[in-house]
Amino acid sequence: MCGIVGYIGGQQAAPLLLEGLTRLEHRGYDSAGVAVLGTGLRIAKKAGRVRDLSDDLPKRFAGKAGIGHTRWATHGPANDVNAHPHTDAKGDVAVVHNGIIDNAGLLRKQLTDDGVDLASETDTEVLAHLIARSDADTLEGRVADALALIDGTYGIAVLHADFPDRIVVARNGSPLIIGVGEKEMHVASDLGALVRYTTTVAHLADGEMATLTAGGFTTYRQDLTSTNKTATLIDVDPAAYDAGEHDSFMHKEMLEQPTAAASVLRGRLDERFGTAHLGGLNMDARETRAIRRVKILGCGSAYYVGQMGASLLEELARIPADAEPASEFRYRNPIIEADTLYVAVSQSGETIDTLLAVQEIRRKGGRVIGLVNVVGSAIARECDGGIYLHAGPEVAVASTKALTNMFLGFALLALQLGRVRDLSIADGKRLIAGLNRLPDQIAEILGQEDQLAETATRLAGAESLFFIGRVRGFPVAREGAQKFKEISYRHAEAYQTSELKHGPLALISEEVPTVAVVPADELTDRNLGALHEIAARRGPLVVVTHADVDLGELGTGPAMIARIDVPRNEPELDPILLTIPLQVLAYHAALRLGHDIDKPRNLAKSVTVE
Ligand code: F6R
Repeated sequence: MCGIVGYIGGQQAAPLLLEGLTRLEHRGYDSAGVAVLGTGLRIAKKAGRVRDLSDDLPKRFAGKAGIGHTRWATHGPANDVNAHPHTDAKGDVAVVHNGIIDNAGLLRKQLTDDGVDLASETDTEVLAHLIARSDADTLEGRVADALALIDGTYGIAVLHADFPDRIVVARNGSPLIIGVGEKEMHVASDLGALVRYTTTVAHLADGEMATLTAGGFTTYRQDLTSTNKTATLIDVDPAAYDAGEHDSFMHKEMLEQPTAAASVLRGRLDERFGTAHLGGLNMDARETRAIRRVKILGCGSAYYVGQMGASLLEELARIPADAEPASEFRYRNPIIEADTLYVAVSQSGETIDTLLAVQEIRRKGGRVIGLVNVVGSAIARECDGGIYLHAGPEVAVASTKALTNMFLGFALLALQLGRVRDLSIADGKRLIAGLNRLPDQIAEILGQEDQLAETATRLAGAESLFFIGRVRGFPVAREGAQKFKEISYRHAEAYQTSELKHGPLALISEEVPTVAVVPADELTDRNLGALHEIAARRGPLVVVTHADVDLGELGTGPAMIARIDVPRNEPELDPILLTIPLQVLAYHAALRLGHDIDKPRNLAKSVTVE
């Protein structure tokens, strides 16, 4: 969703801001803008891409302090006027804002009643007017005065013509990171926009503000008392934020999965006792034994992988477990139980629905652990403990390597919980051997990319597709359909194979292909029965399966587009291997259709508004 950048120092701000905004494009946006302070405050903003803004930037746009924004429309459509930065009536104050001001309607009315002309339809504009109306002596005081009137979430950056030596920023529920350079300071809502310039950073906390000058930064609360935050050097490879020789981040990140999978397992497997060591859970064996249920919460793909995780926990730890979309959970006044372990799953650690679900559980006294990729993110900080996913930065909107590591995080959790309960040491060792085989097996599947690309080309022609699977295979089908629809914009619907004949079979025809997940397991024959029913109605088939599954006459029948064999692991771990080819199919279908793979329409990398 929206992105923020800011710069103050010895260089011209505009090119740096535009470069930073380009790095934020993957977050999802529909307009962009920048403000610089040179001789006076100057603004340029535009609906469309950062490239369009850059092409149209006035020749004389000089200034060594500036702020920039990519907007994802919430209040008011995507147009030039609603794009950020927003200003007060005199054009002295410029504000960029991520988040939502809940009482914007009321504040807009009060301002209008007072004779203020509002230029845009946005919630953000009120902030610029409120800052301009404060009579505090300092910019810090004026911004704090304005924020005191605001309900809602925000990350903001503010420039003021009367205070040209500073940028004031503030955070409440929307990330902001300060980057320290050589006699220059940066700020951004995402590390990816900073790492080219500096890896010495400070993360603002909720309720915290900061002032950036060319020489440094200070942090303080909204009552202006100091919080004395200092910056730290972080260990991040700037190349992780570059697609390199790949045509997209999604392609790069898909191919990084073997390495990413090895990272989440590293140092966490105990071969001797057939268990996992997850120090970050902050639970001793006695507390672990006391767990009676597990409830997993996540959104989108994180929810689907949560369903895979629930199966792992039930099978290995024999604890009743289920997954629920975090976006729904909070609204049904959930019963929070002391002996239930709640697990929040999130790549970004900033998804607002998941964060609010965590807050609701903790408010009611429940224990929540996080499976989170971004270290220090809001969800990670909010949880009682957790498992970092170590997938490295994931830039593409369509999640691949983080999702795989979420599955592995669940496998580790199930192993640890299982081994303090009834899972035998022999089974523990069997799973550890399986986990250790996974990175190479993932690489083996990715090595079939050329054949998968051919199959994807056949699927890309269909307007509508089914993805089907049973029990362990059903969340795989859901995730396959999710990935396909996100980037190919084809209608892809997931169904339990067993449910086909209870309705959707009516839609099967020559025009509607089915991607079927058919592992070699106790349900293979039943799955094959359903495929016969599809083939009898001339429904084209792609079957994702294991080499030892005999498809019989289906395999050579006219309905068969392709058979995709994945290597076998332990049955509990097979779902993730069955998922990998579905990512590759989605990627190549989207490529074939000429879509912008890393910036799918209407979608954002982290969904930070409800
Ligand atoms: C799908 C996808 C989304 C996210 C969802 C949750 O490819 O990326 O469905 O999984 O928005 O995001 P996180 O994991 O950041 O909470």
